[in-house]
Amino acid sequence: MNIILLGPPGAGKGTQASRLISERGLVQLSTGDMLREAIKTGSATGLRAKAIMEAGELVPDEMVNELIANRLDQPERYSGSGFIFDGYPRTEAQAISLDALLAERGMKLDHVIELLVDADALVDRITGRFSCAKCGEGYHDRYKLPKIDSLCDVCGSDQFKRRPDDNEKTVRTRLAEYRAKTAPILPYYDARGLVRRVDGMAPIQEVERGIESLLDGAG
Ligand code: AP5
Repeated sequence: MNIILLGPPGAGKGTQASRLISERGLVQLSTGDMLREAIKTGSATGLRAKAIMEAGELVPDEMVNELIANRLDQPERYSGSGFIFDGYPRTEAQAISLDALLAERGMKLDHVIELLVDADALVDRITGRFSCAKCGEGYHDRYKLPKIDSLCDVCGSDQFKRRPDDNEKTVRTRLAEYRAKTAPILPYYDARGLVRRVDGMAPIQEVERGIESLLDGAG
């Protein structure tokens, strides 16, 4: 099963992807995570992407298309259960590229899940976000705190971090980029009957149940 999680910054794509990994054994392909890793390692891609990401703009299509193609070409890293595309595609050119990449490998998309959210809530969600510096588990200052104070629920680390682009000014640019370039790809998938919509404003566990029920065919 291959799924795209689509929604503006802070809609809960990463949060829901981690649940789908643990529950269904799907593999998350997050272009945002790949780009942050490229910045960390100081690769040429990272050097090109850093300032663009800090400004909240989209990096060039060919850069992310190549990252995804490279990952799809490493089957030894995957379980074979399918992929969750998180934060990709984000433009029509990326959507067309993904179709071609999948077709070349004998794969296809099964669902595009759009998380419906109220734009006003997103700045609050993103500026309150932090994650475990060791395993990457995501948290929020109010909506998802570690169960034991200051210790990661998953790996027990006491080290947490915040993203440099999670500030109000950059979030507003990211939202504008989503409206201008990403939302317009929904009709591309709608025309093929692939889009399923879930209320992303519900509490995290309810969103999880909504996604589960539609993947099980009851939604
Ligand atoms: P990327 O890393 O993809 O960021 P994003 O799309 O802006 O999405 P986020 O990670 O901010 O949000 P999310 O939907 O995953 O929310 P989360 O689950 O964490 O991209 C970063 C940058 O990289 C881009 O700006 C661009 O420059 C570049 N880039 C990446 N991919 C690209 C591409 N394909 N093309 C071009 N450029 C690209 O949730 C947010 C917070 O809310 C968390 O704290 C969480 O705990 C909380 N939360 C989640 N769900 C709920 C809920 N239901 N109720 C209450 N709180 C909730």
